[in-house]
Amino acid sequence: MSNSKAAYPFQIKSYENYQKQYKQSIQNPNEFWADVAQNFNWIKPWDTVLQQDFETARTTWFQGAQLNITINAIDRHLSTQANAPAIIWEPNNPTDQFKTLSYKQLYDQVCTMGHVLKRKGIAKGDRVCIYMPMVPELTIAVLACARIGAVHNVVFGGFSAQSITDRVNDAQCKMVITTDGAHRGPKYIPMKETVDEALENCPSVQTVICMKHTETAVNMQTKRDVWWHQEMEEAKHLGPLDPEPMEAEDPLFILYTSGSTGKPKGVVHTCGGYMVWATYTFVNVFQYQPGQIHFCTADIGWITGNSYIIYGPLCAGGTSLMFEGVPTYPEPDRFWQICEKHKVNIFYTAPTAIRSLMSCGINYTQGHNLSHLKVLGTVGEPINEEAWEWYNTNIGHNELPIVDTWWQTENGGIMISNLAGITPQKATFATLPLPGILPQLVNDKGEVITETEASGNLVIAQAWPGIIRSTWGNHQRCIDTYFSTYPGKFFTGDGCLRNAQGEYRITGRVDDVLNVSGHRIGTAELEDAIDTHPAVIESAIVGYPHDIKGQGIYAYVTLAPHAIPSEAIKQEIIHAVSEIIGPIAKPDKIQFASALPKTRSGKIMRRILRKIAEGELQSLGDTSTLLDPSVVQDIINHREI
Ligand code: WT7
Repeated sequence: MSNSKAAYPFQIKSYENYQKQYKQSIQNPNEFWADVAQNFNWIKPWDTVLQQDFETARTTWFQGAQLNITINAIDRHLSTQANAPAIIWEPNNPTDQFKTLSYKQLYDQVCTMGHVLKRKGIAKGDRVCIYMPMVPELTIAVLACARIGAVHNVVFGGFSAQSITDRVNDAQCKMVITTDGAHRGPKYIPMKETVDEALENCPSVQTVICMKHTETAVNMQTKRDVWWHQEMEEAKHLGPLDPEPMEAEDPLFILYTSGSTGKPKGVVHTCGGYMVWATYTFVNVFQYQPGQIHFCTADIGWITGNSYIIYGPLCAGGTSLMFEGVPTYPEPDRFWQICEKHKVNIFYTAPTAIRSLMSCGINYTQGHNLSHLKVLGTVGEPINEEAWEWYNTNIGHNELPIVDTWWQTENGGIMISNLAGITPQKATFATLPLPGILPQLVNDKGEVITETEASGNLVIAQAWPGIIRSTWGNHQRCIDTYFSTYPGKFFTGDGCLRNAQGEYRITGRVDDVLNVSGHRIGTAELEDAIDTHPAVIESAIVGYPHDIKGQGIYAYVTLAPHAIPSEAIKQEIIHAVSEIIGPIAKPDKIQFASALPKTRSGKIMRRILRKIAEGELQSLGDTSTLLDPSVVQDIINHREI
């Protein structure tokens, strides 16, 4: 895709062109996406482009086609840019040597790792869990899975042993790939130890591949555990590895994400549609040009990293920068240091990171040469005006386009966003849908709102190539969660405003899902974790506005009659959450309550608890339907400020 003059024939170059393409994509998706998809390398062409089925959630894209996404991400670039950098890796510690992997080097390593996986008995369709820090080997492991048709299941390195256990068991993974340890800023994280603990209850796992990264001593279990470097050394002589031909609708990966009920679900993405969507959105939203350095600060444990560190940039033949560390280590200018050092052209981060850097003061943004930056982006949560302005002024110097990209794990790629420098931008607005995306607002009765200027629940009325295909092991859950609330439409769970110009502003979740520092956390999952504490009878979690995290976690907890509320119990509750979910889900505030406000039918009135946590005591609304309205005053009197 990057060897001709028009590097990306499907790159939109003007606002008029956007409008035209948008219209075509909605009126005739089959023709539109066939046109886009022919720019990729397919082993066998498709029979049909789109077969939409929102009733049983069995939509297919490019049915009948065969492909391997690694041919598009690696092989096809070898003839023209074998020596061009595919991955630049910046380590946690700025004085350690950074690494560059050319397309040829990436190819060699992915082939060798693919051989290793096969020699360890991994075959097409098998699931492999990857629990690694942000090192190049993580990308190699992901691509090696894709090369042989194994389904990768990357678990964020900040999740607990229990979370790994749940995910590995749900997906019945045969293998786990990890490292000895990890460095994140000043912290050391014992990756292998956590995996060992997790696997005590995972009978499906036969092999653990451990990569030496921190050179920490770890226990290696005979028969089960092997070293990455030894296996790679032994497989090296096997040379190139033919890519496994995959059906367009074969699963490519599973990524677990939280919802409003139950345990996290495994969102399934498939090979063909996901490839087209990740690449198409990457090239258009960021207006990527060959040779540019793209720096997405997300972790590959989240969908953002999958789509915009690995698959989007690599399928476009681009250069993707992977950063191991955190924005504030060793100092809060690390991002800008990296941008200067590697001459970064596109910088894509989360509002929470911007707010945290903002709170450190502007001295850190000064004195760095950011002249190579062309495009800025944000993702993960609504960006408040103040953070947007700070980003625009101090990093963009009022000259660079900022793309505010709205999308979700279930979407595979960006759904609503301005296209950098091509379509208008507006602070706090994701603005316009990408071609192929038909957003609608619906009211609580499920009726589509026809006025342009309106607010409602955001749904998507037409299938796009990156749409979720299933929830692993439980397809009914996919139907129930996404396609049943508003029949015939995909339900996003987000509330949304639309202005008179038809631009969209996402206002946040309308379900019981929190967005804490851009991480999605289900309240039910959190309550379950808190309720494991022996002194806890029940708990209710709500979000409240938090200056840096966007939303903070407020926990209302009732204790058993014999238990005495104490700081010690609070600490134990926090510890339990860390162990069961991970440190990212730790409550910010815990309030012991003698009782929770409930309706006569026993339902906890979260609406009231939310208002109290937000400090909106004047607008609690009707409390007369409560079983015991006096509970509310008691909670107000003891609220955590
Ligand atoms: C939820 C999805 C896929 C990106 C990483 C998060 C919120 C995401 C924006 C944005 C306002 C946003 C939504 C969405 N969100 N991007 N630009 N503006 N809200 O993926 O964990 O699947 O979370 O993040 O609430 O539903 P995720």
